[in-house]
Amino acid sequence: MSVPAHSLESVTQLRDAGLLVALNAPESMAAEQYRVLLNRLDRVCTERPLRAIAISSCARGEGRSLTAANLALTAAREGREVVLVECDLKRPSLSHLFDLAPRAGLAELAEGKAELPQALSRVGNLAVLCAGEGRERAAAMGSPRFTTALDTLRASFSLIVLDAPPALALSDAGQLATAADGVILVVRVGETPRDMVRMAVETLSHRLIGIVLNCAEQPSYSRYLRHEAAGA
Ligand SMILES: Nc1ncnc2c1ncn2[C@@H]1O[C@H](COP(=O)(O)OP(=O)(O)OP(=O)(O)O)[C@@H](O)[C@H]1O
Ligand SMILES: [Mg+2]
Repeated sequence: MSVPAHSLESVTQLRDAGLLVALNAPESMAAEQYRVLLNRLDRVCTERPLRAIAISSCARGEGRSLTAANLALTAAREGREVVLVECDLKRPSLSHLFDLAPRAGLAELAEGKAELPQALSRVGNLAVLCAGEGRERAAAMGSPRFTTALDTLRASFSLIVLDAPPALALSDAGQLATAADGVILVVRVGETPRDMVRMAVETLSHRLIGIVLNCAEQPSYSRYLRHEAAGA
């Protein structure tokens, strides 16, 4: 599938660019965590096919978009054919995060006002399908055209990362959980209430493939590595 290229330089000028660690700080411990996540996904893939993975959370602002973007960038850096799809039409952020020019996106695809090739952008190796500017946003996930677009992406990409709406808040999320092969739940450490996590786990049921703890302390092995380096 041929899509227009987008320069990487402008990405580095973004305010939130520092948080796109898979792109801007690939040697960091934070970027390593996304490689660990991808690696664990690969292991799950040996047991069940996972091509389209939805990144959701219990509520808003827990880090779904950053997790989805960094996971997709990590896979793209490894040379995989990966597309990041912004399915959170109510609060889109990816065009801002990647500094992409406004263009047709998922909303226009669902309304039949655009075709997939004109809606896709590229950030380096990564293909990105943003939410777009369409007005009938709420209807997008239920649209048969959305299902068709997802099928086309499945045929062209080995990994589809869906930046999904919160799992408990919106009907869109339920439709998306069904369309995806599995769901990763992002939980913001110290903020997401335990009861909400329990409810989301029950709601997602067998579709849940794992939980990402966002904004967690660095894992203890990073301290171990630092001690090792100091003692070397
Ligand atoms: N690991 C992190 N470290 C620092 N800041 C973070 C981290 N994860 C998320 N944030 C910040 O928290 C805010 C929300 O992150 P993000 O947009 O990824 O979450 P979201 O779940 O997609 O939110 P929304 O519900 O608005 O779509 C952003 O301002 C982001 O910069
Ligand atoms: Mg978001």
